[in-house]
Amino acid sequence: MYKHLIRPLLFSLDPEYVHHLSFTVLGILLSIPGIKQLMGQIFTEDDPVLQTEAFGLTFKNPVGLAAGFDKDAKLVDKWQYLGFGFVEVGTVTPRPQVGNPKKRLFRLPQDKAIINRMGFNNAGLEAMVNRLKKLDQHEIIIGANIGKNKDTPNEQAAEDYEKCFQALFPYVDYFVVNVSSPNTPGLRDLQEKEPLTRLLLRLQELNNAQTAPKPLLLKIAPDLSESQLLDIIEVVRDTQLSGLIATNTTISREGLTTPAEAVKQIGNGGLSGAPLTARSQEVVAFLSQKTQGTLPMIGVGGIMGPKDAHERLEAGTSLIQTYTGFVYQGPGFAKRVCKSLAIARKRELSH
Ligand code: FNR
Repeated sequence: MYKHLIRPLLFSLDPEYVHHLSFTVLGILLSIPGIKQLMGQIFTEDDPVLQTEAFGLTFKNPVGLAAGFDKDAKLVDKWQYLGFGFVEVGTVTPRPQVGNPKKRLFRLPQDKAIINRMGFNNAGLEAMVNRLKKLDQHEIIIGANIGKNKDTPNEQAAEDYEKCFQALFPYVDYFVVNVSSPNTPGLRDLQEKEPLTRLLLRLQELNNAQTAPKPLLLKIAPDLSESQLLDIIEVVRDTQLSGLIATNTTISREGLTTPAEAVKQIGNGGLSGAPLTARSQEVVAFLSQKTQGTLPMIGVGGIMGPKDAHERLEAGTSLIQTYTGFVYQGPGFAKRVCKSLAIARKRELSH
């Protein structure tokens, strides 16, 4: 129904408008008594075989909603009713910011892709903390993806990350340091070995001062060279990070079937979805091979269905996330992937 009826309707409207509309509709539906449970029955795959231990946490299933979808943690405890085992809220910055001028979100249906240059539009740290404070008991694992404000110079970036880390610490299960978005000028310079090590060491210091430190992960770009990826492996070791999230969106426009003129007109931004599948997979495989499979990772980037999910997990990730696949495949996405993973896990167990 989504593919043939709802998606064509939604795709005829402005992408950012649709994003807000879907949020509002979902929020309303999931607050009506009975509907939440009904949606849960339709859209979730409850199977103990899907339970996944990673980063010292127990996930009901290994399929998560990637950062950027629920930027302000508006529906955070609702995603479990659409079958997700975890959700990563954010990227949040200390102060609210409007992001880049609109239009800044584009669909490339021929490529099953999205280009975005949102630029960390978000309601800010305080708003997120206030929402998370009010949450009741929930099954879903919550990660916080933290960033810096656009007008914070890179030399002071660490303070922005620290503020987010400290304020959110009581309310989330894991943290992700985002230095890989292409839409905040200069942000990706923080992926360089020295500034990155300094930033992560400061956060780990704060983390280790807590009675029970939380998993701290780093989200990386798919555009890093092999030598930069080798640097990242060293940084993970030196700062004793829990692991990596690979990958964010790409600045590459290679291999698209959308006419070059149309792509050019869209302009700058990060590309996600099917054209990213191969590169994200390659990054994960490279990191896994170089660390003999010892580097814990969450795989994200072009996971458009069960096949991509299987391949990403086999390449060495413990968990996977989706953004664009969810937009293109609809609310049944997590269930479809989970169902297929459950079958494979049972087959493995019976051998
Ligand atoms: C994103 N992504 C993203 N990532 C992040 O760390 N912080 C963010 O705020 C956002 N915002 C965002 C907005 C939009 C509109 C898109 C499409 C993506 C990146 C996202 O989490 C993911 O890493 C990539 O999109 C690749 O995965 P998919 O979309 O190919 O499944």
